[in-house]
Amino acid sequence: MVVEVIFRKVKRFGSSVVQKCCISHRPAIRKLWYSACALSILSLVICAYYITNVQLNSMIKVPKELTFRCKSSADRPFDNLRNGFGFPPTNVHASNARLRLDAKVLVFVETQYSHLGRQISEILEASRIKFKLEIAGKSLPLLTNLDKGKFAVLVFENFEKYLHMNKWNRELLDKYCREYNVGIIGFMKAQEETYVGAQLKGFPLYVHTNMAVRDYHLNGDSTVLRLTRAGEVFYGNIPGSDWTVFQPNHSTYEALASARSQTYHSSLANKGIDPLLTTVVHDHGNYDGISRVLFGNGFQLWIHRLLFLDAISFLSHGKLSLPLQRFILIDIDDIFVGEKSTRMKPADVMALLNAQARIKRTVPGFRFNLGFSGKFYHKGTSEENTGDDMLIEHADEFWWFCHMWSHSQPHLFENITALEMEMKLNREFAKKHGIPLDSGYSVAPHHSGVYPVHEPLYEAWKRVWNVRVTSTEEYPHLRPARLRRGFIHRNIMVLPRQTCGLYTHTIFLDKYPGGPEKLELSIKGGELFHLFVYNPVNIFMTHLSNYGNDRLALYTFESVIKFVQCWTNLQLITLPPLQLADKYFQTYPEESDPVWMNPCNDKRHRAIWSAAKSCEQLPKFLVIGPQKTGTTALYTFLSMHPAIVSNYPSPETFEEVQFFNGRNYYKGLDWYMNFFPVPKNSTDKYLFEKSATYFDGDLVPMRAHALLPAAKIITILISPIKRAYSWYQHMRGHKDPAALNYSFQEIVTTGDRGHKALRELRNRCLMPGMYAQHLDRWLSYYSPQQLLIIDGEELKSDPVAVMSKVQQFLKIKPFLNYKDHLRYDPRKGFFCQVSQERNNTKCLGRSKGRLYPPMDPQTEKFLKAFYLPHNIALSKLLTKLRQPIPFWLEKDLSHGS
Ligand SMILES: *[C@@H]1O[C@H](CO)[C@@H](O)[C@H](O)[C@H]1NC(C)=O
Ligand SMILES: *[C@@H]1O[C@H](CO)[C@@H](O)[C@H](O)[C@H]1NC(C)=O
Ligand SMILES: *[C@@H]1O[C@H](CO)[C@@H](O)[C@H](O)[C@H]1NC(C)=O
Ligand SMILES: *[C@@H]1O[C@H](CO)[C@@H](O)[C@H](O)[C@H]1NC(C)=O
Ligand SMILES: *[C@@H]1O[C@H](CO)[C@@H](O)[C@H](O)[C@H]1NC(C)=O
Repeated sequence: MVVEVIFRKVKRFGSSVVQKCCISHRPAIRKLWYSACALSILSLVICAYYITNVQLNSMIKVPKELTFRCKSSADRPFDNLRNGFGFPPTNVHASNARLRLDAKVLVFVETQYSHLGRQISEILEASRIKFKLEIAGKSLPLLTNLDKGKFAVLVFENFEKYLHMNKWNRELLDKYCREYNVGIIGFMKAQEETYVGAQLKGFPLYVHTNMAVRDYHLNGDSTVLRLTRAGEVFYGNIPGSDWTVFQPNHSTYEALASARSQTYHSSLANKGIDPLLTTVVHDHGNYDGISRVLFGNGFQLWIHRLLFLDAISFLSHGKLSLPLQRFILIDIDDIFVGEKSTRMKPADVMALLNAQARIKRTVPGFRFNLGFSGKFYHKGTSEENTGDDMLIEHADEFWWFCHMWSHSQPHLFENITALEMEMKLNREFAKKHGIPLDSGYSVAPHHSGVYPVHEPLYEAWKRVWNVRVTSTEEYPHLRPARLRRGFIHRNIMVLPRQTCGLYTHTIFLDKYPGGPEKLELSIKGGELFHLFVYNPVNIFMTHLSNYGNDRLALYTFESVIKFVQCWTNLQLITLPPLQLADKYFQTYPEESDPVWMNPCNDKRHRAIWSAAKSCEQLPKFLVIGPQKTGTTALYTFLSMHPAIVSNYPSPETFEEVQFFNGRNYYKGLDWYMNFFPVPKNSTDKYLFEKSATYFDGDLVPMRAHALLPAAKIITILISPIKRAYSWYQHMRGHKDPAALNYSFQEIVTTGDRGHKALRELRNRCLMPGMYAQHLDRWLSYYSPQQLLIIDGEELKSDPVAVMSKVQQFLKIKPFLNYKDHLRYDPRKGFFCQVSQERNNTKCLGRSKGRLYPPMDPQTEKFLKAFYLPHNIALSKLLTKLRQPIPFWLEKDLSHGS
């Protein structure tokens, strides 16, 4: 049964309290309240307030009623029994079958920029579903990897592209789908011509195109539905006149959604002709062995977003099912901070408490989370000050979190003592007023200091409040909101925060930016609704003023919660911040590691980053290694240049910073920047850093690019065979116990069953020499123009020429002719720095250029074979980059020894 749910006018939530208190027409209640009012002066004050408030209300232009149809919860007695909280049972898509499939979607788009294709990617990104985009009509990407399917679902932005694929590719694709049990989602694109009863090529399925439809129905019996709540009807005209409807002629097809025609409406409907037309069809795969879901339109109707996610879940056999639980937390920021006469009055506090009680019935554990800055307590009108007191009276019914005492921005504090003082004042305030102190959660005014990180904030938070969780909209950036993520820094969990469309200044519905309809649309299947659909954890930020005035926040959240319940099977739950954060990082463990970016590349980030810091304190180029190719020599030569400045030495590793690999990365951006001087004039100084292990670090190119997207990268290559041997001797020279324990041959020839220490040593010895795969990774972040590959043999034999190339590559001024600064030292056997005063040479330390016995030919032969495929890949890569093939590479590639 369908009943009408009406959201009352915003203010009526409040006035229902009012009626009970003072102007009830029911004699018994009135009597009761009259006596209660008489008993307490405070109550009288409040009652007086209520009456004036009611009169005021009639002057406020109240928002239009928000109405929609929905199954009432009274229709769900069965559900209540089964799941406890009125959550309906849902289809489970997970399968017990042993599927050899990666949890990833392959999306065939028409072009890189096509509209629907972009919407598809955005939905997948927002739901954190992995996907690969491919332009339809080109060659197919690799579909399998070692007898495992690389994609669990295929999506065609334009299903025609599937129907008219060339025969060879189509057979390959269909074979893949049958063999690996992979389903297809297709969208029917709008067409200029109108077809009536046209057959889809090769299928017992007919379409009518360019239809306009109304009254959207879902098929409650469909096993595809999971997120989407079945049995609802979305009444009214549906946007678009380019709908395709399906007319099947085979039992494999089942309608998933249907609608009536707009044109039948008046004329034919009267005669009883008003059929339901299939707008989304589910092909069970009984016709050709492939399951499909076909959409007669894109995402003009919001319901299709839900159906799309359900289709992905269904066709992936549950591998790509989003969880059904949705954790929400509603922060009311700045609960005492607000301009006079826009703050909360006693009636608003009552409304808040009542709304909380109502929401709790459908959202287990629900409480509003109030953030406070004590300095602004009692800074409103006398009525508003009574409101402040009421909030504190009811302190135990809410959750609380601390702010700065005077709501100041933490990044403005360089002095941690002063920052702590601010927080301590607020702590004293909380103690004095009996506000709970132990939530472990805090939020910084204007996101200041959270990201980009202001280390003193994290430190002070820990010391004063034992903060473990915070939230921000700024990581990695405010926009696009769908890409907001979390990270953990210094044991403080930073969660992404969402906006619900309400800000400090949005306090009256009729002044809502873009008009009240905009808020309504956001709730009814729009932006706000989508946040509930896509994000398993949502922290919403609202402000004090959204709860006074028109109480827009209560209206917004109660409405959207109803709407979510009406149209989805999502289970809404609220957890305290600490538990919420644990849940978040259990769900997304891959988000724990932060990614540090350049704060100057985002205006908003720069504005909440300490003015004492400078992005000039970052390197302009990196020498990335690998080890034992001559990086130290290059480092020395570079340092001789008057315009080039290296980092300060690290107290731990003595020379290299090694920030982008390993644990140093977790020490944060400030730690890294402190290795560099602040140049007086950055345009004529080139800061750089050399860490020879960057070359082969898995995460290094991604991290380096996030922070230094414009940096130049220098690598030096020598024969990987020679490099491996040199590395081994280097380890022995440094008395590495494992290296001393084994011969070079033992190490490089050890198999995968070898001793663990031996295998680790082998990997560290041989892996960096697989040059092509490491360079490929760097090149997936940096352009070829940003990368300089130096032949290590040339650096050794003709450093003057190489240094000229390096200076050209860096476009550095002034040009330094190294001829005057480097001289061959016959005793050492390599070039050394010329000391200008004494006209003699200064060479690198004793460990460099160390002599050791030559490699035995057997091992060399083994390594030649081992590196052959990697060297072939390297020569291909160098050719592609139009770089010369070094002599050593030609030699390593040649046959024989
Ligand atoms: C529908 O299917 C039946 C049985 O296969 C067939 O006889 C009939 O011709 C089909 N109709 C159309 C319009 O293709
Ligand atoms: C930080 O502020 C405190 C208190 O205002 C002061 O005593 C201290 O000297 C300051 N420290 C620094 C390093 O400026
Ligand atoms: C910085 O150096 C550049 C290039 O050498 C020069 O043009 C500019 O005037 C210098 N700026 C200052 C503030 O010294
Ligand atoms: C050295 O070799 C011995 C014997 O193979 C082995 O037991 C020991 O663990 C090795 N030590 C190291 C540091 O690899
Ligand atoms: C410096 O030493 C080199 C070689 O030892 C010699 O050829 C050159 O003439 C010397 N230059 C000066 C200015 O003494």
